[in-house]
Amino acid sequence: MPDPTAPHVADLIREMEASLYDAGGIGLAAPQIGVSQRVILISVPASRMTEDPDDGPLALTALVNPELTPIGDGRATGMEGCLSIPGMRGEVERWSRVRITAVTPEGRPVDTVMAGMRARVLQHEIDHLDGILYLDRMTDFTRFGYVEELIEADMRERPPRSLETIPEEQVR
Ligand code: NI
Repeated sequence: MPDPTAPHVADLIREMEASLYDAGGIGLAAPQIGVSQRVILISVPASRMTEDPDDGPLALTALVNPELTPIGDGRATGMEGCLSIPGMRGEVERWSRVRITAVTPEGRPVDTVMAGMRARVLQHEIDHLDGILYLDRMTDFTRFGYVEELIEADMRERPPRSLETIPEEQVR
């Protein structure tokens, strides 16, 4: 594990923040910019949060050496996208609630519970640290495709209300 307060980690996080900002995403893992370090960025806009009390908007947060443990056996499906798979979306089942431990870039330990969209972004980004893409987690490839096609299919096959399940922003 890198020293989370080392200058090269601060440089890495600055570079990741710039990439995430340019891409308009809500999460990024260091391997996505070619750096093999266990560092992730996550954020959750209010528009994407669920109603779970352990979910909610999250300002851009950097986590070093994040580890998660599922809490309970609840699972939830949702659409995900990824900077590493541009223009595509797929439906992925994730743990609904997880315990997360990590260290901040200031060296402060984190030990908290996240649910809903927070938990989804976290699981997506930690997977990147282990070389796992959301595609590897998919079971129903009829729920995978280009964003525009999925939105069109959704309009044909489902009530308009379900359009809310197609996110505006990508989970990176
Ligand atoms: Ni991704």
